[in-house]
Amino acid sequence: MKLVVGNQKTYLNREQVLNFIEETKEGKCSNVVICPSYVYIDLFLDKSKFLVGAQNVSCKGNGASTGEISAEQLNSMGVSYSIVGHSERRSDQCETSEMFYEKISKLLENDIIPIFCVGEHLEEKEKNITKDIVGKQVMEVFDRLDTNTMEKIIIAYEPVWSIGTGKIPTNDEIIDVTCYIKDLIQDKYDKRVAVLYGGSVNKNNIDTLNEIDVVDGYLIGGASTKSEELLYIMSKCE
Ligand code: PGA
Repeated sequence: MKLVVGNQKTYLNREQVLNFIEETKEGKCSNVVICPSYVYIDLFLDKSKFLVGAQNVSCKGNGASTGEISAEQLNSMGVSYSIVGHSERRSDQCETSEMFYEKISKLLENDIIPIFCVGEHLEEKEKNITKDIVGKQVMEVFDRLDTNTMEKIIIAYEPVWSIGTGKIPTNDEIIDVTCYIKDLIQDKYDKRVAVLYGGSVNKNNIDTLNEIDVVDGYLIGGASTKSEELLYIMSKCE
C-alpha cells in the first residue's frame, strides 16, 4: 500500500469541491490524504472519508499573526497532515529552511504529520548536483530537530522541473534520490523516514512509478483534483 497525498492548491471553487467529494465518495480512502485550500477543510472533514491535510502552516503559535493559520488551529479542526516547504512556497513566498524548521516543530507539537518537500531545479539537475541540493535541504532542517521526532516526518521528493510540467524523472533517478535521502537520515541520525515522490504523477505513469518499491507513496497536484483520475490512482495504490 502506498500513501496518496493530494495537493489541490487553489485549483477548485466551492461547487467543484462539492462535486469532487460526491464523485469520490465510493473510493477506499484510508491511505489517502487530501490537502484542500484552507477554506474547504471543513467541507472535506464533514462530507468525505479522506484524511485531511493542510497545504501550509504558520511558523508561529496562536496569537497576533494576521492571515496565518496555526498548527494548533489545524489540530483543533481535525487536520492530521500538513505540507511544508513546497517549491511554490519556497519561490513565491521566499520561505527558508529556518521557517520550515519552525513550521515542522509546531506541527509535531500539535500531533500533525509534516510532509516536507525537497527537490532540485532543472539547472541543478543538469549540473549533476541534485543530491547536494536535496541533502542540504534535508539537513538544514533535520540538524536542528530532536532526533526522537524525525520518524514522524514524511519527506516528499519533488523535482521542481517536474511539478505541473508532465515531465518526470526515470524510475532509476527516483530510486537513486529516494535511497540517498533515506540513507542520509539513517547514517546521520540513525532514523528511518518515509519518502514520497511528487511531480506530474498521473494515471498514465502510475503503473510505471509503482514498480519502485522504495518509494512510500505520492504527492499529487493537478491529477488529485480530477475525481476519476484520482480514483484510478487510488485503486493502484491500495
Ligand atoms: P503536479 O504537482 O502533480 O501537478 O505536478 C505536484 C505538487 O506540486 O505537489
